Amino acid sequence: MASRPVLILGSRGMLGSDLTRACTEAGIDNIGLDLPELDITDTARLKEAIQAAGAVVNCAAYTDVEAAEDNAAAAFKVNAEAVSRLGELAKKAGIWVLHISTDFVFDGTLQRPYTEKDTPNPICTYGRSKLAGEQLLQASGCHWCILRLQWTYGTNGRNFVTKLLDKARSGGQLRVVDDQIGSPTATSEAAKAICCLIRHRPEGIFHFASRGYTSRFGMAQFILDQMGLSNTLIPCKSTEYQSKAARSANSRFNCNKIRPFLDGPILPWQVPLKRFLETL
Ligand SMILES: NC(=O)c1ccc[n+]([C@@H]2O[C@H](COP(=O)([O-])OP(=O)(O)OC[C@H]3O[C@@H](n4cnc5c(N)ncnc54)[C@H](OP(=O)(O)O)[C@@H]3O)[C@@H](O)[C@H]2O)c1
Repeated sequence: MASRPVLILGSRGMLGSDLTRACTEAGIDNIGLDLPELDITDTARLKEAIQAAGAVVNCAAYTDVEAAEDNAAAAFKVNAEAVSRLGELAKKAGIWVLHISTDFVFDGTLQRPYTEKDTPNPICTYGRSKLAGEQLLQASGCHWCILRLQWTYGTNGRNFVTKLLDKARSGGQLRVVDDQIGSPTATSEAAKAICCLIRHRPEGIFHFASRGYTSRFGMAQFILDQMGLSNTLIPCKSTEYQSKAARSANSRFNCNKIRPFLDGPILPWQVPLKRFLETL
């Protein structure tokens, strides 16, 4: 019997679209579904989709961090309750589930990069909903894997890079926080890492991010320099920035655990970001 395809949920999102492309390029048979044809909170439709799958990668999520502060129920419905049912259905079907999570499960107070063993302590509603999803998936008893990502950007979505460029092109000075540290990570690179996990199907939590770290300010400076934009950048602090959801000061990941599963070295953050900017 031919092996069944990998089901990619949220396949038209920023990560899901790059993952669909990467799987196809890597020769991994896949089926992508997203809203409106599949709402992962619709259990009957989810069950139907899973029955045709050999494995599932869940990139579908409620990702509006700011809106989640006023819409906690909606965020938990997609990021936690649906993930719990996904786990239960996957257990019954006997298939492996790779669920995508985030650095927002941490409070960012640690003075070193986060490992998979560090204790989560989310500081905003989105983070709490994503942590609940992780915990419910593990409790479902299915063959689970959780991949946490941070500071992602890609072609098919609004992200720090596109928002910064929009503001820069409308002219003037830009204020960017210099007290949030992470690794700008291309969804195309995350997608390649996911293809490797699909091949190995390990169980457990993994962190993936580009190599090296910078602040949001450092990332903004790199983007403006690469794009030849001369806007003045002014560093500021997170406390000066109007935001409903609290943001982590430290989004750095230790990626040692995933390394043995990858095809090649993790690239320094500047390399994929330069490539991405060249496509714009
Ligand atoms: N972006 C980041 O910086 C970042 C960092 C770390 C981790 N992550 C995680 O990475 C994963 C992928 O996020 P992304 O950046 O690709 O975000 P995204 O572009 O918003 O993708 C999420 C996708 O899920 C879909 N979706 C939302 N609700 C759904 C539902 N009920 N049923 C089915 N599909 C639904 C969205 O559709 P609509 O667009 O129509 O709503 C969208 O296509 C998420 O788990 C996110 O938490 C993101």
